[in-house]
Amino acid sequence: MTTRGTDQAGSGFDPAVAHPARVYNVWLGGKDHYAPDREAAQRVAECRPQVVAGARANRQFLGRVVRYLAGNRGISQFLDIGTGLPAPDNTHQVAQSLNPAARIVYADNDPLVMTHARALLTSTADGACDYLDADLHGPAAILTGAARALDFARPAAVLLLAVLHFLPAADDPAGVVATLAAGLAPGSFLAISHLTSDFAPADVASGVTAYNEAVPGGITARTHAQVTALLGGLSLIPPGVVPVSEWRADPGQVRQPADLYAALAGIPRHHGVTATCRAPAARRPEGTVHA
Ligand SMILES: C[S@@+](CC[C@H](N)C(=O)[O-])C[C@H]1O[C@@H](n2cnc3c(N)ncnc32)[C@H](O)[C@@H]1O
Repeated sequence: MTTRGTDQAGSGFDPAVAHPARVYNVWLGGKDHYAPDREAAQRVAECRPQVVAGARANRQFLGRVVRYLAGNRGISQFLDIGTGLPAPDNTHQVAQSLNPAARIVYADNDPLVMTHARALLTSTADGACDYLDADLHGPAAILTGAARALDFARPAAVLLLAVLHFLPAADDPAGVVATLAAGLAPGSFLAISHLTSDFAPADVASGVTAYNEAVPGGITARTHAQVTALLGGLSLIPPGVVPVSEWRADPGQVRQPADLYAALAGIPRHHGVTATCRAPAARRPEGTVHA
């Protein structure tokens, strides 16, 4: 099943201006980018070379968390917000390798991403992929659009991987997460990964400044405490909020140096939830730089 989504994003395609999905595609070694994207990616990497390993570690987390949800938790419905350009092991491929009937909705505010998604992120015959041109600033509208393909009366997983850091504090990212969580059935999950400067404050701050000079909208690094706070009172699945390479690492996995935290939260079957968090070795004060 494939259906067209509504265009809530309103963002035009402009190859003359760097864009998050294409800059990320440069770091992942993809081919879908233009000169401004490559220049932005290079400038950030000069400040913090680990950004390349971080992007790859983030994709590995995507694979691990989707496998965990589909394989260990029986989740067959996924809403992937901030999809990014197609890369190896996209959400539907990982989920449908374990459950060919899995249903996935991809949502992004970049029209180029959605064009590629419609063409390349195609479902098994037994499952479904749907596509939404949508902005994370409108979480209720995303849930409404995704309900064309997903049944939110049953457990589902929302993926917010490397996308919440595009929302500054003024845009209430915790409120966005709370709205999404409120629309999910008990037994559902919400996975996040998020940029941090906790591990290299000066270098990441320079990288964020370089990024924000080149990419409209900008990006915000957050501390461990700030990332944890985005999840409000949701119950964190062990190991809690941890460096992305450490989240349920596979045996023998190379732990890439990555300036990202990852976490998986559960929508409780009962009220009275508790948080299971593991703090990093060193916590740093607010590392936010925003254009
Ligand atoms: C760094 S990529 C992450 C891609 C993928 N989630 C991953 O982790 O590999 C960020 C994606 O989020 C999208 N994005 C950024 N801000 C957004 C917003 N406000 N609403 C929807 N998508 C957004 C970008 O277009 C881009 O595709």
